[in-house]
Amino acid sequence: MRILVTGVTGQVGKALTERLCRLGDVIPADRSVLNLAEPSTLPEALDRLSPDLIVNPAAYTAVDRAEDERELAFIVNGEAPGVIARWASRRQVPLVHFSTDYVFDGQGETPWHEDSPPAPLSVYGASKLAGEEAIRAGAGPHLIVRTSWVYAATGVNFLKTIARLACERTELKVVADQVGAPTSGRVIADAIAGILAADSTNLPQRFAKANGLVNIAASGETSWHGFAARIIDGLRARGIKLAVQSIAPLRTEEFPTRAKRPHNSRLDLTRLNAAFGLIAPSWADSLEPELDKLAREMRIE
Ligand SMILES: NC(=O)c1ccc[n+]([C@@H]2O[C@H](COP(=O)([O-])OP(=O)(O)OC[C@H]3O[C@@H](n4cnc5c(N)ncnc54)[C@H](OP(=O)(O)O)[C@@H]3O)[C@@H](O)[C@H]2O)c1
Repeated sequence: MRILVTGVTGQVGKALTERLCRLGDVIPADRSVLNLAEPSTLPEALDRLSPDLIVNPAAYTAVDRAEDERELAFIVNGEAPGVIARWASRRQVPLVHFSTDYVFDGQGETPWHEDSPPAPLSVYGASKLAGEEAIRAGAGPHLIVRTSWVYAATGVNFLKTIARLACERTELKVVADQVGAPTSGRVIADAIAGILAADSTNLPQRFAKANGLVNIAASGETSWHGFAARIIDGLRARGIKLAVQSIAPLRTEEFPTRAKRPHNSRLDLTRLNAAFGLIAPSWADSLEPELDKLAREMRIE
């Protein structure tokens, strides 16, 4: 099976590339191979690559910058997935696409179900919702995966930022009233591999069983403040010397950002289990191997 993976320089794409090569021939496509900012070039590139399965984590992910680059965000996150979906639909090539909890407005405290009504607060969230709609309109075999709070031991993300700031500053201030489940790229890649490996000959039917949409995140919940505290404790437990002495909890209003973020990013994981028999590991357990990796790198630096 030829598995085309986009966004391979990103957190999820990197983890998928490492994990899916056990299931088939991974064709890694960075933006020099498939540029989602130029949707009209995609069909010809896809013809050339001729995949049996497309896994598309590539996206415009600069949440704050998207407020000023609306057009580009909508092309990459909305239009390009539609072009890919139509190409895949014509050939009945299954497509796995990624979306986000930012399609919701973050009201309340109940975890978002796949069928909860979306109401994005930001341009990024709206552009990702447009991508979901375009994939569904393509009407081919597809699985849209909504995930949340993605991090990895490499790249630019919350884990790396906290580790750096904890070395530089004695006091950190971190938002404590946004709640979700920090999810490593590895957790997502393992779940996708679990879905694909169960029966790769029958993917359209398996995707349809989930109605083409499933939440994949680590289980449990915390705030960004709770996540930061766990990172710092975990690095100290691994012998990393840090300058930080205290982590002050902030309210969202005290940390204004260009784009609005949801307070409630909890994702309901019932369908992941019901449709695919998978149980997500807890966010705290799945943080441990990433901290091992990060601590190793910090000792080397
Ligand atoms: N990060 C999160 O917290 C989060 C939360 C929920 C959902 N998601 C979704 O999960 C998926 C994966 O996110 P991630 O965290 O892995 O993102 P990421 O680390 O920011 O990586 C994004 C990837 O997309 C590629 N890309 C951007 N613009 C492109 C273009 N015009 N053409 C081709 N490739 C392009 C990037 O390539 P370059 O390196 O060349 O820029 C990079 O490989 C995305 O769909 C995202 O919306 C993410």
